[in-house]
Amino acid sequence: MSKKIAVIPGDGIGKEITASAVEVLKKIDGIYHLDLSYEYRPAGGTAYDLCGSPLPQDTIDTAKASDAILFGAVGGNKWDNVEPSKRPEQAVLGLRKNLGLYVNLRPVKVSSVLAEYSPLKPDIVTGTDIMIVRELVGGIYFGDRCESEIHNGVERAWDLENYSVPEVERISRFAMEAARKRRHKVTSVDKANVLATSRLWRRTITKLAEGYPDVALNHFYVDNCAMQLALNPKQFDVIVTSNLFGDILSDEAAVLGGSIGMMPSASIGEMTSLYEPIHGSAPDIAGKGIANPCATILSAAMLLRYSLDADAAADAIERAVDETLADGWRTPDLYKEGFKKANTDTMTEEILKHIR
Ligand code: IPM
Ligand code: MG
Repeated sequence: MSKKIAVIPGDGIGKEITASAVEVLKKIDGIYHLDLSYEYRPAGGTAYDLCGSPLPQDTIDTAKASDAILFGAVGGNKWDNVEPSKRPEQAVLGLRKNLGLYVNLRPVKVSSVLAEYSPLKPDIVTGTDIMIVRELVGGIYFGDRCESEIHNGVERAWDLENYSVPEVERISRFAMEAARKRRHKVTSVDKANVLATSRLWRRTITKLAEGYPDVALNHFYVDNCAMQLALNPKQFDVIVTSNLFGDILSDEAAVLGGSIGMMPSASIGEMTSLYEPIHGSAPDIAGKGIANPCATILSAAMLLRYSLDADAAADAIERAVDETLADGWRTPDLYKEGFKKANTDTMTEEILKHIR
């Protein structure tokens, strides 16, 4: 039976990079016989311009009915002043919520090829291999908020952070299971010295970890974790944290490997899952054909691995990206003298050549 992939390119470079990833999937399909089919739907500012909503119902329905979703990126200055509930970002937040995508996986791997692009010294970053497990449908992102109210004669706004025990348990369980397939270490990140939600988080994961005696659990405050990621990233295996802390730490961790243009992600739910690069829509370079397609191509590899159980096909994509970099091809975000300069198309073609 055909496997349905909902392709949601979104805005800016989203269109270019999802096109590259679909080319790669088509080639892989020819070799591994996965019988993939594709349905394209709009989201973000593009959808807002088309029909007044950043996340049309039809896009939600198609995503829900899919075996997996390949997502590009949303956002752009053009929509900076639309009302908050119609901002392009609502597309990705709405998909996460509507589809119950409660786990966000962000792998950070720094090979010796990428280490020289890191803002940190190569000996500090080479060999870094972290899986960030970010809670994705709770916390301050989805709590009550007030855009503006008058309180004691002054204007204020507020956002509410809340977490329940079952919410913390399910993301913690996911992190523990993930660690069992890796190096058996989980670092839980919170701000338990200040926040009540963090204290509940810490109590809950500590209790749950009793059921995983083979996994070592430690706890870092988020400020210290941010520092440790720069000082000694190799100490981490799995990092599990809340929606907001995970958002911030994953951008920091992504540049350990030099370019955010290389970092894929998976947002996993009970029914279907969504795969997207962690970078944004980069309006400044949109339409120029120079975006790095690797993060999206590697997201497609995660799609094959986590949604379709096609590990060999996923390995083939990851290997092709590694080999293309080893051959010296670089998009402008990674280009340095002595290397071969690639635009989006050339990079994609070179990766396609290495797929077997
Ligand atoms: C991310 C992004 C989103 C987030 C934005 C686009 C809403 O930064 O996926 O990390 O904050 O979660
Ligand atoms: Mg982010």
